[in-house]
Amino acid sequence: ALAQASIDAGARTTLVSGPVNLQAPEHARVVAVESAAEMLDQCLQLLPDCDIFIACAAVADYRPAAMEEQKIKKGPEQISLLLVRNPDIVATVAASDQRPFTVGFAAETHELLAHARDKMSRKGLDMIIANDVSDRSIGFNSDNNQATVLWPDGEQTLPLSNKSAMARQIIALIAQRLESRSR
Ligand code: C5P
Repeated sequence: ALAQASIDAGARTTLVSGPVNLQAPEHARVVAVESAAEMLDQCLQLLPDCDIFIACAAVADYRPAAMEEQKIKKGPEQISLLLVRNPDIVATVAASDQRPFTVGFAAETHELLAHARDKMSRKGLDMIIANDVSDRSIGFNSDNNQATVLWPDGEQTLPLSNKSAMARQIIALIAQRLESRSR
């Protein structure tokens, strides 16, 4: 929905996406990836030509330390998988030399705005969209969403709406902030 809204607003849009069951917008350039490391690598390659970076992928925080070539055979009652941290893509982009206007998302279950503001500052973002995922009627697996958009010196709550309408409002706010920054 964000890629479509961005195209509709006139931006040349590249969608870097993991394996999903969603149709990509017709006019988006699509870069298909399968892992967090690959997503980071592709995003960094795109940065020289990028003014706005929106990190809306739900990237896994950890990955298995070892990849098995073969099926793991059934054996003991319990086995352990060692997980190692994935790179934080949006934080890496925000810290890069060719830093675009960088937008992230925060899915929280409590103290929504305080945690989102803290995440924005820790990851060095220009904007963050805070989602209350404790409310099952919105967000995950729902076509409707309600969110608050935060930037370092302001915030705006977006009313409950479908994800396409919400994406258009987010893109409009990004354009507003970018414009006020360049004034
Ligand atoms: O830290 P947390 O996963 O809650 O932050 C969510 C934000 O960080 C989202 O914008 C998500 O796309 C981004 N993220 C990332 N790389 C990761 C994990 C999350 O860019 N490895």
